[in-house]
Amino acid sequence: MQKYVIHGGKPLSGTVSISGAKNAAVAIIPAALLVDGVCRIENIPQISDVTLILRILQELGAGVHLVNRHTVEIDSRHIASFRVPDQLSRKMRASYYLIGSLLGRFGRAMVSMPGGCDLGTRPIDLHLKSFQALGAEVSVESGYVHATAPNGRLHGAGIYMDQASVGATMNAMLAAVRADGTTTIENAAKEPHIVDLANFLNTMGADITGAGTDVIRVRGVKSLHGGAYSIIPDQIEAGTYLAAVTAAGGDVVIQNVIPKHLDCITAKLEEMGVQVEEYGDSVRVVRRGALRRTNIKTMPYPGFPTDMQPQIAACLCLAEGTSVINEGIWENRYRYVSEFRRLGAHIQVDGKIAVIEGVERLTGASLRACDLRAGAAMVVAGLAAEGTTEIGCIHYIERGYEKLVEKLQGLGADIRVVDVPEEDGQQADQAG
Ligand code: EPU
Repeated sequence: MQKYVIHGGKPLSGTVSISGAKNAAVAIIPAALLVDGVCRIENIPQISDVTLILRILQELGAGVHLVNRHTVEIDSRHIASFRVPDQLSRKMRASYYLIGSLLGRFGRAMVSMPGGCDLGTRPIDLHLKSFQALGAEVSVESGYVHATAPNGRLHGAGIYMDQASVGATMNAMLAAVRADGTTTIENAAKEPHIVDLANFLNTMGADITGAGTDVIRVRGVKSLHGGAYSIIPDQIEAGTYLAAVTAAGGDVVIQNVIPKHLDCITAKLEEMGVQVEEYGDSVRVVRRGALRRTNIKTMPYPGFPTDMQPQIAACLCLAEGTSVINEGIWENRYRYVSEFRRLGAHIQVDGKIAVIEGVERLTGASLRACDLRAGAAMVVAGLAAEGTTEIGCIHYIERGYEKLVEKLQGLGADIRVVDVPEEDGQQADQAG
């Protein structure tokens, strides 16, 4: 096991390049199961969630060839299994995309209920309702989701999302893409990765319109053909570097981004007194003076993303005055608060509301990551805190951030990875 050790309190400077989007990659890679040909997928991030989903495809019998660190070729033509190994799929939330993909391909899927970060109950009822609307019989037995299309074919249907769910919207698209007839998804989620999945599928011969709006139309096609596609940059990774500069101060150019995707984040940073300049595919972020308070409410895109809530909270801990956060998506996304308090932060939580009284300085302490974004937020706080911050359970962070330590070192941060003796690591994991 390993931990991060950060000597904080130093401004950041230089240039950092953003990797491909995790939440697009973990849907697009399973989508390759629907393709009768070789898919070349470029700009995949080198993170453990991607390694895991590629392993699952291999276990199913797909040919997976890593052309280089960020490009993979997937050949699903000879897959015969619709059953996903339990021990792998339980490790990640996004394994639910295998249900839509296998159902779309074989008219049958058997996948264990998904795992992932603990942010609350995280139901998948909307996914299952969408499959049922398309004609599948769905049941959950012994921890597995069984979905079967009678006589092997799904049919197009009208699907109304009770809630704009990212995963259910993408899963409905995956199942519908090769169904007979047209599917309309209403109250669809609009996140950038939904558009990216639609663009990937269309590149392979699908007929999907409206992605990025709240009505998506999928006209079923008989088959999909191979092709090449490049994944969009990661909005949340870019946002995390914006937050790091906001908290620690400095002047950084963040390259390989789609600035439009960052508007919901940069608008808030500007309210806090941070300067953000947009260029074609980069942004420059400068923070020199004191930070001002603000309020945040997390919402589906284009609202402020829940996946940036912990990182912005780290910044607000150091802003003048009182800030209020209202978490509008997940019921349990404040598990980092007790760790932030160890750094000297003043935060009170009541249900979905967190009230943060800004303090003049944070001081380093020993922390433990409890989920992916909470862990990233601890890094952001540690970069701003005076003295030494240690962060354990970094496997959570490595699920979603490629070369975080190297990238931050490139910005002048004093952060390194240190091995934790086996016994200490086990104790930390059990306590978590
Ligand atoms: N919901 C239901 N029923 C469902 C599905 C969702 O009630 O069947 C509810 C959820 O409980 C939640 C809301 O709908 O309150 C939104 O959930 P959504 O389905 O949009 O989330 P998700 O697809 O499970 C993805 C990301 C999360 C991100 C959310 C919201 C992936 C693999 N995960 O989760 O990312 O927080 O969208 O934007 O794409 C992360 O990257 O750290 C992360 C947790």
